[in-house]
Amino acid sequence: MTGMTAGMNNISLEKIGEDYCDFFDYFHPGGKDLSFWIADNAGINGNMKILDVGCGMGTTVCLYYQKYNCSITGIDINPAMISRSKKRASEKGIGDKVHFKTGNALNLEFEDNSFDFVLNEGAITLSGNPHKAIEEMKRVVKPGHSIAFVDELVRHDINEKKKAYYARYLGIDTLRTEKQWLQIIKECNVEVKTTNSLWGIDSVYKMRLENKRKGLYSFGEKMKLFTSILSGEGLKGIFDVVKIETIFIKAYRERTLGTFAVIAG
Ligand SMILES: C[S@@+](CC[C@H](N)C(=O)[O-])C[C@H]1O[C@@H](n2cnc3c(N)ncnc32)[C@H](O)[C@@H]1O
Repeated sequence: MTGMTAGMNNISLEKIGEDYCDFFDYFHPGGKDLSFWIADNAGINGNMKILDVGCGMGTTVCLYYQKYNCSITGIDINPAMISRSKKRASEKGIGDKVHFKTGNALNLEFEDNSFDFVLNEGAITLSGNPHKAIEEMKRVVKPGHSIAFVDELVRHDINEKKKAYYARYLGIDTLRTEKQWLQIIKECNVEVKTTNSLWGIDSVYKMRLENKRKGLYSFGEKMKLFTSILSGEGLKGIFDVVKIETIFIKAYRERTLGTFAVIAG
């Protein structure tokens, strides 16, 4: 298992086609409430030049531009995500205001000290090398400015076997406790400014940008996802997704899994 998978152990992130992108749109960790918590606590404003690493479908890039009128660029390792991000921005009439390009969190194609704020929502663990991902964010942000990330959290008393079980279904190398995240940040020589740990089933429902339903997918969305997964992965792919959703929701409900957000600098 590598970090370069997508919640289904056999699908590589770079290969996920445009239809699968929707799968990620339902996994915006902490929902837009958390994106705005970050913005408020990082003091985002219209004069800032911002980078969103692992931008997925451009959710936060569009949200931040529309609210703060900032200069913002999103990068993602998957070209299909970038193309969906561009489409989303165009549909919102801001296609010429925001920027997207394909890129790797572990090797950002930007000069040192290029941005006023650098964000990563849900792509630190997925990148497979948290230290390198954080160091790259730190490298491209201007001295004295903040970086922030959001990632999966596991409760401190969960044993290694169970952690590995959950990580496998989330398609990630490992799950970390709050203490382990803080240790990684320290090892990257970054100072924590503020943190926010979310627990409980509400934080799963909040992943939906429009927080209208008690679940991750509607029937129509499930059908759409299932059709694309069936054609790409066959029946096994569908069983994987159903299993992942069930395990994931149960773990959040039991407060075994949570969401960790940190602003550091
Ligand atoms: C869980 S999704 C989150 C997307 C978006 N940040 C959001 O919150 O809506 C994780 C995203 O990280 C991207 N990703 C994973 N590893 C990456 C890497 N090494 N470099 C850039 N993007 C990466 C994936 O392609 C995916 O779009």
